[in-house]
Amino acid sequence: MAKDFEQMENSNRSANASIHEVSDPARRRLLSAGLGLGVTALLAPLAGCSTPGGSTTGPLLGFKSVPISSADQVLVPEGYSVQVIAPWGEPVGLSGENPAFKFDGSNSAAEQEAQLGMHHDGIHFFAQEGSGSGLLVMNHEYSDDGLLHPDGMAGWSAAKVKKAQAAHGVSVIEVQQDKASGRWEMVRPSPWARRITANTPMSVGGPAAGHALLKTAADPAGRKVLGTFNNCASGITPWGTYLTCEENFINYFKGPDQPDAHQTRWGLKKGETGGYRWAEFDERFDAARHPNEPNRHGWVVEIDPFNPSATPVKRSALGRAAHEGATVAVTRDGRAVVYMGEDSRFEYIYKFVSRDKIRPGGFAANAELLDHGTLFVARFEADGRGRWLPLTHGQGPLNAANGFADQGELVVKTRQASDLLGATKMDRPEWIAVDRQGYVYCTLTNNSNRAANDKQPGTDAANPRANNTMGHIIRWKEDGDFDGQGFAWTHFLLAGDPSNERAEARGNIKGDALGCPDGLWVDGRGVLWIQTDMSTSAMGKGDLKNLGNNAMLAADPATGEVRRFLVGPAGCEITGATGTPDGRTMFINIQHPGESPSERSDPKEPRKISNWPDFRPDGRPRSATLVIRKTDGGVIGS
Ligand code: FEO
Ligand code: CA
Ligand code: CA
Repeated sequence: MAKDFEQMENSNRSANASIHEVSDPARRRLLSAGLGLGVTALLAPLAGCSTPGGSTTGPLLGFKSVPISSADQVLVPEGYSVQVIAPWGEPVGLSGENPAFKFDGSNSAAEQEAQLGMHHDGIHFFAQEGSGSGLLVMNHEYSDDGLLHPDGMAGWSAAKVKKAQAAHGVSVIEVQQDKASGRWEMVRPSPWARRITANTPMSVGGPAAGHALLKTAADPAGRKVLGTFNNCASGITPWGTYLTCEENFINYFKGPDQPDAHQTRWGLKKGETGGYRWAEFDERFDAARHPNEPNRHGWVVEIDPFNPSATPVKRSALGRAAHEGATVAVTRDGRAVVYMGEDSRFEYIYKFVSRDKIRPGGFAANAELLDHGTLFVARFEADGRGRWLPLTHGQGPLNAANGFADQGELVVKTRQASDLLGATKMDRPEWIAVDRQGYVYCTLTNNSNRAANDKQPGTDAANPRANNTMGHIIRWKEDGDFDGQGFAWTHFLLAGDPSNERAEARGNIKGDALGCPDGLWVDGRGVLWIQTDMSTSAMGKGDLKNLGNNAMLAADPATGEVRRFLVGPAGCEITGATGTPDGRTMFINIQHPGESPSERSDPKEPRKISNWPDFRPDGRPRSATLVIRKTDGGVIGS
């Protein structure tokens, strides 16, 4: 479908080199701040632009596949080890606050605020000196209130809502490797340790800051929002900050009796609270009483992990969406390009191109870089070409007559603007990654509603399968540079199971079967890591019946070969990947082990599906971070 990618490689090969240049100032910033922090780890994940110390020769994938498994354990290839750190409920290391996890779920809301949250998701390792210590910053996407409290949601109360809100958000922890054993441990207390929750004050940057659509009774200026929640994937910037992405935020709000067109487009339904029931004890989440509160969520939030007192900033110029992730590339002339998927059926892929060049001086010098620029939405044409359509007020139909008074209203209503421009409705865009050759990859996790009936969109070239239970990975290369207005695209793979009786579910993978790709990360050697999220309501059934538990696979972008590297415990999803600059330690997250098909555990049987990772007779399954190493100390994947 796409034009010849190989011919275009040379023209874009230098695109990533500029990342080195823009990151040197970040290094200077950190050192000048007296933190002694190197930022080599900031470089490696950005399109794999740095070569880790270690093997650079030999085949890209040097391990033997692990089999499909439904066991309640983590499987890795021969010659690899796994270690569990930072499970839900572990104290993060705030000074003077060390509440131990209580295995019956009886920690208070205040204790949960000092502990790692639930449902670990996007993660990044910010290296300190060398590769042996650093900060791990991670998202906590949602809560399973059946596990969070001893008796689940019985006697639902303000205290339970507070605890659930404290189990959401972001954690910053410090970790270090023991030189003798090679094992990693949390450093506690740590001056960097931090919890950001659904109640942490945040500011707003960009065109929606102070907009009428963001003003509430509690915040008449529309500039100070409480909290972030449903934080799914994540990204980092070359100036050393972490981007956390607010995904299915609408599920936390109780809709009015008669939702208006805007509320309906964003999925707000009469009386529903998505099962979280926060509105019952926190009226902020009752959209009938506070109709603008949902407009204050659905943003990408920038966090400076090196300044624990810094206020997180919601970057409205990047658009409002059920944001999956935010992946930053850099143009040759030093501007930031942020790629973003919106994980919802028939939603869109976005990119933001900054107006200004990244400046030396770290976050302080780039504090408003993501507030000025142009937001685009993708349209994939049938001939393998694509176009980026500008979401700019005053251009084309994006004017007051069509409901967009200004750019602030436009970004609040990003979906409606994209509808109007005729952007391509995708099969749930999840993570995005950029490889060493400048190809951009996006997972489309699945969409069983595609062509389900005459009310649903049919198939198109970019989303070619009706009842797309397996998902696919699309990739493109921009014309010229990352700010290109056009691109050439193709499918990297259609996920599936070659043994499936339904031809449409077989896919075309060169290598090991997988379903529902979600997490993506390109490591320093250029391996494309693919993580799966078969939902617990679909896992082990229907088209997914032979695929076992969720898994992580490694792909060679040049050959398309895919090998299964890891299988997670029962009922989990695998999400979030990062590593040390030397490539010898990888960190990934195991989210929601033991999740039931309803996504809410029965508090009477917390260990029914999984008891990972503690396997205590009185315990409960916990999301946690996995540390993966080679037993010979080599580079992961080699
Ligand atoms: Fe939170 Fe789209 O996974
Ligand atoms: Ca995800
Ligand atoms: Ca997912």
